[in-house]
Amino acid sequence: MRTEIANDIFWVGVVDYNIRDFHGYITNRGSTYNAYLIRDDKTALIDTVKHTFGDELLRNVAEIVDLDKLDYIIVNHVEMDHSSSLPMMAKLAKNATIICSERGKDALIEHYGSDFNKVKTVKSGDELKLGSRTLKFLEAPMLHWPDSMFTYIVEDKILMPNDAFGQHLATGQRFDDEVDAHVLMEEAATYYANILMPLGPLVARKIQEVVQAGIPIEMIAPSHGIIWRKDPTKIIKAYSEWAVGTSQKKIAIVYDTMWGSTDKMARAIAEGAISQGVEVKMLKLRASNNTEAMTEILTSKAVLVGSPTLNNGIFPTVGSFMIYAVGLKPKDKIWSFFGSFGWGAGAVRAMAEMARKAGFEVHEPGLEIKYVPDQGDLQKCFELGVQIAKEVSK
Ligand code: FEO
Repeated sequence: MRTEIANDIFWVGVVDYNIRDFHGYITNRGSTYNAYLIRDDKTALIDTVKHTFGDELLRNVAEIVDLDKLDYIIVNHVEMDHSSSLPMMAKLAKNATIICSERGKDALIEHYGSDFNKVKTVKSGDELKLGSRTLKFLEAPMLHWPDSMFTYIVEDKILMPNDAFGQHLATGQRFDDEVDAHVLMEEAATYYANILMPLGPLVARKIQEVVQAGIPIEMIAPSHGIIWRKDPTKIIKAYSEWAVGTSQKKIAIVYDTMWGSTDKMARAIAEGAISQGVEVKMLKLRASNNTEAMTEILTSKAVLVGSPTLNNGIFPTVGSFMIYAVGLKPKDKIWSFFGSFGWGAGAVRAMAEMARKAGFEVHEPGLEIKYVPDQGDLQKCFELGVQIAKEVSK
């Protein structure tokens, strides 16, 4: 399947309807691996796809140009969802010059061997004339790998920024005006929260750089999900806000429970917060997952994490969440911890320590109760909810 997204510019990617786990990121709506083909005096393929779909990519490209007549393959990013069918493509498109960033060359050799010694490297500002069209390259190191770069089609004003501005959303539709706007923004936020969040300052700087360079953008064609053609500024604006940690009057309560005590605590905390008019998102980890939790945290001002103590430490699902959250470094949140224990406490202390080490702002003290919360304990939980709600309402 292919789609002409602008005159002689084609989407030749594939839709992965069934992927549900993208290296730990839960992708409930599947994904796509977008590749693009530009037909001009010279032809250029921008990125490839995950190797399991390589045959489909070859078919899509071959419908437009004989593979041995392909002139260029641009590698915007070496992560394997975009490059693992490159070796197969390079073998068949034997006259194509492969182009990537300097660090992309190293990564290609490290992934696929010394055959990739021959690739041509480009840096920010370099241009490639295809005929009536010009490709301009913009390095985007650590957005989100060292090798990442954006390709811009000057005459069509189309930005192909690879992973940036993407979403894991499998659909037969290709454009923002063809899909449900709410679903689209939800998936864009989930993608940002679970991949780009720790890189917020770099994202903000790169957006600033593009804006200051006065590069007009009429379409953003990322490497996952749909293409922004109706209103590309919508996703640029959303990224600008997420990058500086803009959050709402909202609290995320992320927890798990063994025999229901930590669940009772979470519910009482939620009631306290709601009594102050603050929105609360309840995320019990075995009914939800780390991916959804991080998406809610992206726009929350406070995060309350609850764990029962198991074997003197954190309950495993909550421990996994804490490791995930520390890595993604959400900005400007208030963190607080709670949970139940039997004969020896430990989970609350351990979680608070992890958060402090990560540089998070921790609301002290946390709240730990023995075995099952009684009315007095539940009142303390309610009050913690009230207190945190007041802080996020300031
Ligand atoms: Fe979609 Fe960083 O790969």
